[in-house]
Amino acid sequence: MPSDFAVFLSEMIRRPGEVRALAPSSAATARLMTEGLERARGPIVEIGPGTGSFTRAILARGIAPERLTLLEMNPRFCAELRARFPGVRVLNRPAQEIDRIDLSQVGAVVSGVPILARPELQRAVVGRAFDIMAPGGFLTQITYSGKSPVTPDMQAELGIAALRRGTVWTNLPPARVFEYRRRASGPGVCDRNL
Ligand SMILES: C[S@@+](CC[C@H](N)C(=O)[O-])C[C@H]1O[C@@H](n2cnc3c(N)ncnc32)[C@H](O)[C@@H]1O
Repeated sequence: MPSDFAVFLSEMIRRPGEVRALAPSSAATARLMTEGLERARGPIVEIGPGTGSFTRAILARGIAPERLTLLEMNPRFCAELRARFPGVRVLNRPAQEIDRIDLSQVGAVVSGVPILARPELQRAVVGRAFDIMAPGGFLTQITYSGKSPVTPDMQAELGIAALRRGTVWTNLPPARVFEYRRRASGPGVCDRNL
């Protein structure tokens, strides 16, 4: 089986507009993205899994493979994910179809989909993810920007609030992890330690 890095790099060259990263996320990033999943109930959805850095970390948190659904646009990544993660449901479908995969009361969504500066995609992906989310559910999103990839205006429109989980400087490139939940009060970004 080719290495994650080799598969990732060849697909990044073929489909740069979709992959938008130089390498799979590091294990440290994957741990930060998946924190709290061990307490989540119900189905878990991962969108934009690539070669499965976050998938591995989700399963390592004790999530049974049959609770996990992956939505990945790239057919080559899907083939690799099916071979690597038996029992996990791998759908070769865009994340925009998250509300059409027969799931409800989802405990958490883990997102590697590049949504920065793409408001239509945010509306379609993040908005629809919260349409099928359980009341206490959350979405984690990786970004390479210092700011929340979902702007305060878009958070207000979608009725969610952001929490900055932290930065992984050793990721290539350095990665930020944001968590989104349904909003209890006004829009804005909180830092975890505040
Ligand atoms: C930056 S890579 C992240 C891969 C992996 N999560 C990681 O961190 O190593 C983005 C991934 O999202 C996938 N992707 C991009 N747009 C998508 C969409 N609309 N729906 C599902 N997957 C998408 C790409 O094919 C790629 O696998």
